[in-house]
Amino acid sequence: MDLKNLPYSLRVLAINVSKHIDGEKITQDDLDAIINWKVGNEISFMPTRVIMQDYTGVPLLVDLAEMRSELARRGLNPEKVNPIIQSDLVIDHSIQVDYYGTSYSLTLNMKKEFERNEERYKFLKWAQRSFKNLRIIPPGKGIIHQINLEYLSKVINDNNEPEIVIGTDSHTTMIGGLGILGWGVGGLEAEAVMLGEPYHSIVPEVIGVKLEGEIREGVTPTDVVLYITELLRKKGVVGKYVEFFGSSLSKLTIQDRATIANMAPEYGATVGYFPIDEQTVKYLNLTGRDGDKVKKIAMELGIFYNEREEIKYSDVVEVNLSEIEPSMAGPKNPDERIKFGSLKIERKKKGNIIQDGDVVLAAITSCTNTSNPTVMLGAGILAKKAVELGLRSKPYVKTSLAPGSPVVVKYLKDAGLLPYLEALGFHVVGFGCTTCIGNAGPLIKEVENDIKTYGIEAYAVISGNRNFEGRINPLLKGTFLASPILVVAFAIAGRIDINYEEPIAFDPNGKPVYLRDIWPTLEEINSYMNLAMNPEYYISQYSTIFKGDENWEKLSVTPSPIYDWPKSTYIVEPPWFKEEDGKLEIKKARILLLLGDKITTDHISPAGPISPDSDAGKYLLSLGVKELNTFGARRGNHEVMIRGGFSNPKLKNYLVNKEGGYTIHFPDKREGTVYEIAMEYKKEGIPLVIVAGKQYGSGSSRDWAAKVTALLGIKAVLAESFERIHRSNLVAMGVLPIEIEDWRKLGIKGDELVSIEFTDLNPGSRVKIIFENNERKVETSGVLRANTKTEIEYLKSGGILKYVLEKMIK
Ligand code: F3S
Repeated sequence: MDLKNLPYSLRVLAINVSKHIDGEKITQDDLDAIINWKVGNEISFMPTRVIMQDYTGVPLLVDLAEMRSELARRGLNPEKVNPIIQSDLVIDHSIQVDYYGTSYSLTLNMKKEFERNEERYKFLKWAQRSFKNLRIIPPGKGIIHQINLEYLSKVINDNNEPEIVIGTDSHTTMIGGLGILGWGVGGLEAEAVMLGEPYHSIVPEVIGVKLEGEIREGVTPTDVVLYITELLRKKGVVGKYVEFFGSSLSKLTIQDRATIANMAPEYGATVGYFPIDEQTVKYLNLTGRDGDKVKKIAMELGIFYNEREEIKYSDVVEVNLSEIEPSMAGPKNPDERIKFGSLKIERKKKGNIIQDGDVVLAAITSCTNTSNPTVMLGAGILAKKAVELGLRSKPYVKTSLAPGSPVVVKYLKDAGLLPYLEALGFHVVGFGCTTCIGNAGPLIKEVENDIKTYGIEAYAVISGNRNFEGRINPLLKGTFLASPILVVAFAIAGRIDINYEEPIAFDPNGKPVYLRDIWPTLEEINSYMNLAMNPEYYISQYSTIFKGDENWEKLSVTPSPIYDWPKSTYIVEPPWFKEEDGKLEIKKARILLLLGDKITTDHISPAGPISPDSDAGKYLLSLGVKELNTFGARRGNHEVMIRGGFSNPKLKNYLVNKEGGYTIHFPDKREGTVYEIAMEYKKEGIPLVIVAGKQYGSGSSRDWAAKVTALLGIKAVLAESFERIHRSNLVAMGVLPIEIEDWRKLGIKGDELVSIEFTDLNPGSRVKIIFENNERKVETSGVLRANTKTEIEYLKSGGILKYVLEKMIK
């Protein structure tokens, strides 16, 4: 097999395919398409591992449990349903920052986490004991991608093949930093792979990012990833692989690479891949894995990076690291990078304790950055210098530290830096996603009052990767992404428009303190680096990874082939095998929502708190539920999720003149919530469609965004363009993704009836679309965005679950 000149990421794919050719599911054609780099050709291959987090993993396992129930109902052996490849689920998404700023915060938050989520955790424990090849990592152990990086990944697996990891979380790409091909997929696709189906994709373009120069003093890996995100978003890399190479590759540590690979979904790429090299070997050896063995096999397989070899890429983008400046990104999108210090805020409104432009939430959060010792040590050093000058965080700022692995706390403690972070309110609140996933908990009461009473425009600063509207806290004007070092600085300053020229605070004697006075130097950071890379920390941390704390251990469950669906408001038997099969022709559908550009999966299916005034909240209250919890935690209950569909308060539907989850029923033009109106159409037997703009479904791998779409009765989404994972999730739920021209140019108003006609049914088929009402008729065509023949089969079967079950029965 001649892999010469092929990008390393494609070589990994080719090796995988060559090892799994069986002439049926995976064929020589798949291999030829990769080796000859036939961009756009459909290929099938076998991922070697699946990782999940609990928000997406619970519904996935609920689906598997339901498949078992369905097999039993049909008189078949339920234990046919079992993952056949190693599958790991990390419980990291559910912890919320209810308590912060004290040494008890962690214990109290974890206690609350178990109180809120006991029913889900019992289900997960049942799954752990009842399914083969499934490992569960209990709460409190860290964040999925950081654990994957520090422990779970082998790079080359026991069969001597390079790992390909799919994960039910978009930031699975982070593992690209360690030379592993990995990306986020919908839970539904992951289910199929776990049950032995190959993963289907197309041969991608590969964009080479040539790294040159050196990161300047005062600039962090976070600044680098924000720069790359902006650059590649502008370039346009959606659906493509990004592979890093160049003379500066060797200067980036694995953690720097992981930070950059993490944000691949934000720059739009399928993967951000760093080939295996000496840095990989060093990191594996340091973290208790056999780097030298990996090197030997990688060299034999031809996937060990060789700077002298000329690789052909589809296109090359050059990045001179020395040109990157300190930055942050926001207030609404991760690619809205601004130079640090350039923001100007007019202070028009004043409340009792805050005014416009104040920072009220500062969170060191997210696997993106807490996995990176450079910025974590940097944050600690800045905190030390600030505290020694007598500075403190502003009292109206909710501060938190939620590392993705307890290793971080060990090295911060050893370095003597943790007490300084704590003095500024950055006590550990949890080892999980917390603020990054929207579980920041409530703001300080008086702050909330000021925002509500005076309409103050306040901000959050987080060291995460996403800041879509409403994600972190719907009361905020916006959220900025920045390095953990800047997060601490913002907490001290208490305002968002700080810069290098003006003081960020005054010491107790009234002397101004400038950011440059307390900024950590690279030399200072490096003086602690050996502590952060102490192999003992990693080995001792991970020796007990599958054992939970006493809260977890005392959950008592009995393994059984079929799940005994309890009376629960968290885990409810889903209706997937009861719903009608997919009918692809659509006649006289109504437009449920008329939407703009960049509709995110947060807009479609929010993850945050359930409001008591919402349809979902009222439903739960009617059942006597006291703790409404979050949508993320309720994803095992379709009744709650469907009521939360398109209920994000920041969602703008052009059919109504306000934000929020409202729409109009036609023809009577009655307004109601999206759920109410959709159910009314359902009763009337009227199919529904959504019409939207560009980048529909950006954000996460959340398959609930597609599931609620299907449950609401939406048969097709007509959009200018789709984001990769959400598009495939729609297909997996039997919903047609159809690309159309800009509806604004077509003159669509939203009150039309919509019919969709097919002449053939193939990947990329053109379809005829007619929008009509008494006054006008618009005829146009669209492209069915089913990318592969298998996806067409999913659509015909009414979704992937029915497709897989039927195959299993045959
Ligand atoms: Fe969690 Fe945010 Fe990472 S949601 S998995 S911390 S990107």
